[in-house]
Amino acid sequence: MAAQLPEHTKSYWRDDTDLPSFGKLEEDTAADVVVVGGGITGLTTASLLIKEGLDVVVLEAGYLLNGTTGRTTAKITAQHGMIYDELIQHMGKTKARLYYESQIEALQFIKQNIKEQQITCDFQTETAYLYAETDQDARTLEKEYEACQSLHIDTEMKDSIPLSINVQSALAMPGQGRFHPLQYVEHLVQEIVKHGGRIYEQTTAVNIARQKHKEAVLTENDCRVTADSIVCCSHFPFYEGTGFYSGRMHADRSYVLAVQTDITYPGGMYLSAGDPVRSLRSASMDGKEIVLIGGENHKSGQGRNTLDHYRALQQFAGNLFGRPEILYRWSAQDLTTIDKVPYVGEVTTSRPDVYIASGFNKWGMTNSTCAALLLRDLVLKKENPYSELYTPARFYADPSIKHFLKENVDVAKHLIKGKLEMPHASIEGLERDDAAVFMADGQRKGAYKDKDGELFIVDTTCTHMGCEVEWNHGDRTWDCPCHGSRFSCTGEVIEGPAEKPLQKHPHTMLDNLTSENSGY
Ligand code: FES
Repeated sequence: MAAQLPEHTKSYWRDDTDLPSFGKLEEDTAADVVVVGGGITGLTTASLLIKEGLDVVVLEAGYLLNGTTGRTTAKITAQHGMIYDELIQHMGKTKARLYYESQIEALQFIKQNIKEQQITCDFQTETAYLYAETDQDARTLEKEYEACQSLHIDTEMKDSIPLSINVQSALAMPGQGRFHPLQYVEHLVQEIVKHGGRIYEQTTAVNIARQKHKEAVLTENDCRVTADSIVCCSHFPFYEGTGFYSGRMHADRSYVLAVQTDITYPGGMYLSAGDPVRSLRSASMDGKEIVLIGGENHKSGQGRNTLDHYRALQQFAGNLFGRPEILYRWSAQDLTTIDKVPYVGEVTTSRPDVYIASGFNKWGMTNSTCAALLLRDLVLKKENPYSELYTPARFYADPSIKHFLKENVDVAKHLIKGKLEMPHASIEGLERDDAAVFMADGQRKGAYKDKDGELFIVDTTCTHMGCEVEWNHGDRTWDCPCHGSRFSCTGEVIEGPAEKPLQKHPHTMLDNLTSENSGY
């Protein structure tokens, strides 16, 4: 067994980077373009548009790079699991090849940017490996190899990998990369500010209104930013229009450990072809090498006790590296579209100046950059070879429709299940720094007891579309199983699509809670 898990979840990238802070938007303003979302997609898009001479405002609901970008494993690769065989089945060879080209272009763009602007961000070229440990996974991998061959993608089948895992086979894609994502994006932030871009943190965009020939973003504190174009890069789009994105994407959680080990890491980036998902890459920390071990993917709000996922990775790390020191643990949330290709383009055809980028299917480094390059061209009304591939308005042929229905049946199932479930916890048995769901006045409530014993009571009904949130024991959050909204232990929004916090209840409810649950 590997060493102890750290008590708290914290991303290495976030802990290692001092980012500048920005004030809140306090008054109405105007710009050429408003970018909503201060992650890698929004900030890359903003920096590209500023280079084109446009006046850009960036709005971030929380703090820059505090969402998915700060929690990624930051592999920069066109090897997105076993995607090419699937893409060929769904959309044919031409589009599958276009997908590959767009991803490689994004990788090249990042490399070029790092080189030209001399960005210090621990970039390293690596070979990406997909490895199979079972006969069945080896057969699937063989099909993926054939798909790559048919698309003229530079890949090679191997019967072993440099890492000490017994594999049946592996698919190697050379010339990929990895970096420190926040050091890279921090540079973009500096560029945006230097060239006159305006960034506002703690400014939540809640809606979009059309005003004569302009669009305007409305914020939670009643400010309005008027612009010619609006670009939503807020992970889950804060504005869906009639695009029904809630039903066209699902959210997955995954987990990461950063470990230090005496065993020399042989280089390379790795991803298992089958379950359980395991992902590895190395990084530099203060001149020493650390290894990031990821995996344990599951639908958000639908996993088992989330601490178990960290323990499973801890076990894997122990098997591979003896007794490594576990420096950090954190989790990430990713959105996946029905056909696994992101949505980048007009939010709906009736709002030609409102664009979204979402659903990066766990491959946020190349997909975000690819999206930013496309968004730039869309805003500038320039041709882009990938606009048709990524348009959110693309038609779903069977079997995507089946998948679409399955996703929505799944959401409906969780909506009903959550309402019918009778919690059996007792408030007396609640440990400090833990939470449970109770019944009070016939309604489901959540109670979190902090380290000092103070109770925080929330309504467990998700403020997005009414599903019931569940307590995430590993990360100390309330997670929604339907579209992946996450709330802090006291009910504040950590991650959308929900925009409003969970309804809070006063301490006086404590008496009701206690008496209601005494019979369970
Ligand atoms: Fe949609 Fe909770 S995230 S109902």
